[in-house]
Amino acid sequence: MARGGRSVSQPVAAELLLVLAVALCAAARRTSAIGVNWGTQLSHQLPASTVVRLLQDNGFDKVKLFDAEDTILGALKGSGIQVMVGIPNDLLADLAAGGKAADNWVAKNVSGHVRDGVDIRYVAVGNEPFLETFNGTYLKTTFPAMQNVQAALVKAGLADKVKVTVPLNADVYQSPTGKPSDGDFRADIHGLMLTIVQFLASTGSPFVANVYPFISLYADPNFPLDYAFFQGSSSPVVDGGGVTYQNTFDANHDTLVAALRRNGFGNVSVVVGEVGWPTDGDANANLDYARRFNQGFLTHIASGQGTPLRPGPVDAYLFSLIDEDRKSIQPGNFERHWGIFYYDGTPKYPLSLAGGNGSTLKPARGVKYLEKKWCVLKPAADLADQKVGDSVSYACGLADCTSLGYKTSCAGLDAKGNVSYAYNIYYQTMDQDDRACGFNGLATTTSVDPSAGTCRFIVEIDVGAAAAPSSAMAGVAVGWAAAVLAAFVLSVVL
Ligand SMILES: *[C@@H]1O[C@H](CO)[C@@H](O)[C@H](O)[C@H]1NC(C)=O
Ligand SMILES: *[C@@H]1O[C@H](CO)[C@@H](O)[C@H](O)[C@H]1NC(C)=O
Ligand SMILES: *[C@@H]1O[C@H](CO)[C@@H](O)[C@H](O)[C@H]1NC(C)=O
Ligand SMILES: *[C@@H]1O[C@H](CO)[C@@H](O)[C@H](O)[C@H]1NC(C)=O
Ligand SMILES: *[C@@H]1O[C@H](CO)[C@@H](O)[C@H](O)[C@H]1NC(C)=O
Repeated sequence: MARGGRSVSQPVAAELLLVLAVALCAAARRTSAIGVNWGTQLSHQLPASTVVRLLQDNGFDKVKLFDAEDTILGALKGSGIQVMVGIPNDLLADLAAGGKAADNWVAKNVSGHVRDGVDIRYVAVGNEPFLETFNGTYLKTTFPAMQNVQAALVKAGLADKVKVTVPLNADVYQSPTGKPSDGDFRADIHGLMLTIVQFLASTGSPFVANVYPFISLYADPNFPLDYAFFQGSSSPVVDGGGVTYQNTFDANHDTLVAALRRNGFGNVSVVVGEVGWPTDGDANANLDYARRFNQGFLTHIASGQGTPLRPGPVDAYLFSLIDEDRKSIQPGNFERHWGIFYYDGTPKYPLSLAGGNGSTLKPARGVKYLEKKWCVLKPAADLADQKVGDSVSYACGLADCTSLGYKTSCAGLDAKGNVSYAYNIYYQTMDQDDRACGFNGLATTTSVDPSAGTCRFIVEIDVGAAAAPSSAMAGVAVGWAAAVLAAFVLSVVL
């Protein structure tokens, strides 16, 4: 630290103050640090600079990516946001095959960005590669890919700053009795898991696990609803040593902690890579439950109490930031509705990241929309016309109709409303192209918003429009100027 020509006592006082301020910030961060997953499987993406400003406006200090897209990493430059950058599963075979591919991947997707001022902290090698639905496709390549990426980071001189890990679905561990303290890794991959955990322990990297009480409920109709949330449960799980679990999250987290301990790795840290609740596409996916879960979770971790086996701060990334209308719905129609924000960066419900009493989510700024125009079924159209059904199938084959169906946000529509919904979502997805509101003469445009009750007929964002001037960077510059000014004023006062 440069000290200039000042007397000894002043810098010491200033440094003490600085140390204090840093300590205070660190203390605040230890209880409130919360990250979020930023997925990009959307037909219409907000400009990366708009999303980065959204993250900053809402106080997210960490973000998890599923890929290494240049525009996104570029927008995160100098943002002060820590980044976990992802490697998609389909790159694992290449990266496992030899060191050269990993060297190139690190050079292109980490080193350059770090030099530019992107605060990359983790590389996530693959995403849930051991999911049973992958039929073992990535069992042989995941670990060698991790080793090769680690070796490449060492060569690049980045291994101290950037840690290698792999986000795993929670079914890589389980408890035969249902008690968290009996947790262990899945029998068919037990050896592989120990190899990976040994690697994590030796490199000081965290075990990243995705935890989904919603899926527990989705998969088992008899799952006790209140046990998925955080307000106490009528069917808690009583474990040994007087420990009782009142919610799925704690129990799931501690099943992992127990599995780590059982195998001699009780000191490996745990990061929750994904946690959240969807808002549409299933009977249990709605705004009320999503808010209850996410706010309950945030308040739970803000309390700093942690879980019975790991008291203290919990490190977690919410899933997810924004809805993704191009995600695969193979797991279920809810897949496209995990966002705490809608497609356009509008908050879905009030959510306080700080855990209850702080300010609630703020919307994205400067979002450009297409015209206020919707496409609907002509009122005189005959629903018995075969062409109506065909056109709906066509529209829903190319656009996202997962808000239609049993107990969804648009379940209240009548048959004609259903058709209009399909027409409009297709029309918006096609950027309001006139030809996309034809449907054999069955459709027409309107300037009256057909939205009704919980069912939102959207107007898409304008992705053709020039991105708003990058005031995110201006904001950062102003922030720095203010900090420098404050430091100057401080040193003068002292
Ligand atoms: C960098 O990451 C991108 C996105 O995952 C990938 O397509 C590309 O192949 C990577 N570059 C190298 C040199 O591996
Ligand atoms: C896994 O196997 C099932 C059944 O054989 C098949 O339907 C599915 O497509 C396979 N998935 C992958 C990712 O190979
Ligand atoms: C965990 O414990 C092992 C064995 O005692 C040790 O080598 C390793 O450095 C420890 N890791 C951390 C993160 O404390
Ligand atoms: C929020 O405020 C209420 C009442 O003032 C208080 O009881 C509660 O502990 C606060 N919650 C948090 C997370 O600070
Ligand atoms: C609307 O569409 C959904 C999904 O295709 C269907 O389940 C529902 O029965 C339809 N409602 C009416 C009133 O036709």
